[in-house]
Amino acid sequence: MSLALIILGAGKGTRMKSDLPKVLHEVAGAPMLVHAMKSAAALSPERTIVVAGHGAEQVEAAAIAFDDAARVVLQTEQLGTAHAVAQAKSVLSDHEGDSIVLYGDTPFIEPDTIATMVAARKTHDVVILGFNAADPGRYGRLVMNGDQLQKIVEFKDASEAERAITLCNSGVVCAKTDVLFDLIDAVGNENASGEYYLTDIVEIARSRGLSATAVTCDESETLGVNSRAQLADADAIFQDKMRSEALENGVTLQAPATVYFSHDTVIGRDAFIEPNVVFGPGVTVESAARIRAFSHLEGCHVSQNAIVGPYARLRPGAELAEDVRVGNFVEIKNAQVEAGAKVNHLTYVGDARVGARSNIGAGTITCNYDGVMKHHTDIGADTFIGSNTLLVAPVKVGDNAMTASGTVVTSDIPDAALALARTPQVNKPGLAVKLFAKLKAQKAKLKKGA
Ligand code: UD1
Ligand code: MG
Repeated sequence: MSLALIILGAGKGTRMKSDLPKVLHEVAGAPMLVHAMKSAAALSPERTIVVAGHGAEQVEAAAIAFDDAARVVLQTEQLGTAHAVAQAKSVLSDHEGDSIVLYGDTPFIEPDTIATMVAARKTHDVVILGFNAADPGRYGRLVMNGDQLQKIVEFKDASEAERAITLCNSGVVCAKTDVLFDLIDAVGNENASGEYYLTDIVEIARSRGLSATAVTCDESETLGVNSRAQLADADAIFQDKMRSEALENGVTLQAPATVYFSHDTVIGRDAFIEPNVVFGPGVTVESAARIRAFSHLEGCHVSQNAIVGPYARLRPGAELAEDVRVGNFVEIKNAQVEAGAKVNHLTYVGDARVGARSNIGAGTITCNYDGVMKHHTDIGADTFIGSNTLLVAPVKVGDNAMTASGTVVTSDIPDAALALARTPQVNKPGLAVKLFAKLKAQKAKLKKGA
């Protein structure tokens, strides 16, 4: 059955004190909005509608980057959660199926929870996600009668008895799309806040003889973010989860609390991650690879048995084949390093290929940028690039070629050739001692005059 996803994200997020729309603040390298979209992704929603307020263009760009069919509708005035959902009506008027409403600032709803709600929708017209709150605070309260949900009361409008209820509203709703919008049409704003409450649809549904129920989840899934402190808490919770999953999947983390993951980090079994490693978005590390301490990786792929670091930086497009070695203070960007190649010390390899088993000496730089354009360096297999070689791209180094230390390579090197481009050395016998004496005399004269 077709599913539509409606994500609410028009709230101002005043407490974030930010120019960025709240739903675009990141948890583990992805906007909260994308976390919400990922929660529902397993159910393959046919349509995704994001309700945005200020910064709608930025919100749209982020939504489309995750799902190019996503649409953003504008809620220019924030008149309440029912009013927010109502903005999606025109783009869902022909939708046959169920709609799920999620909040864009609640990033941790589990896919299984949403699946349970969709399953419960088969026997109930309206399904609400509730949770038993340790501290129910100002959450809306779910008033149950057996398995029937009678109504949701907002804290501000609740009686003492209702405030004593600990089963709270998470905000996630599932209903048949046309039923949802019919119910929303009937919602008014005569309440303590003067807002159009989405929660009112439950009582309206019941008064029309429809059935409503609540599915529950763990409170941790409903964690919402309203401030920078809560954003940091959300990130910490997410990191703990990623670390536990990695350990569970057979990855060694020597000091788990010091390893930072992104939402999409993939690490194979028997990989070994030393302390203080940061994984930015888009990293895959294959099995039995080792990432040594203080390395920073993003948008890259590390194959089996490769060793990276300590203090290495792999930037987007770095592709390391099996058994590659990348050592300290090495930066690799948009480059294929083929099987068994070694780039061990103080080197920049950007926009390049390094052929299999080649050895790149310390201090080698691919000069890939001329100030305007980027150019490619192609290094063949089984080469030896001497220390402090500058490869001025575009340039090609043939298989089995060698460069002498300090060479500035400005033209292609044929297979098996040695390139040597540096000023020949001249030794002047005894001149060092004479020069020292002269310089020392000059210094003494200066001191006297001072
Ligand atoms: C809402 C629920 C409450 C629930 C709580 C869970 C209602 C009336 N109340 O209250 O029962 O316990 O969430 O956190 O629904 N938004 C818009 N446009 C608006 C108003 C809100 O897009 O006009 C978005 C916000 O950006 C946010 C979400 O809807 O993502 C929830 O809004 P918020 O104001 O936080 O609702 P609460 O008062 O917390
Ligand atoms: Mg809220």
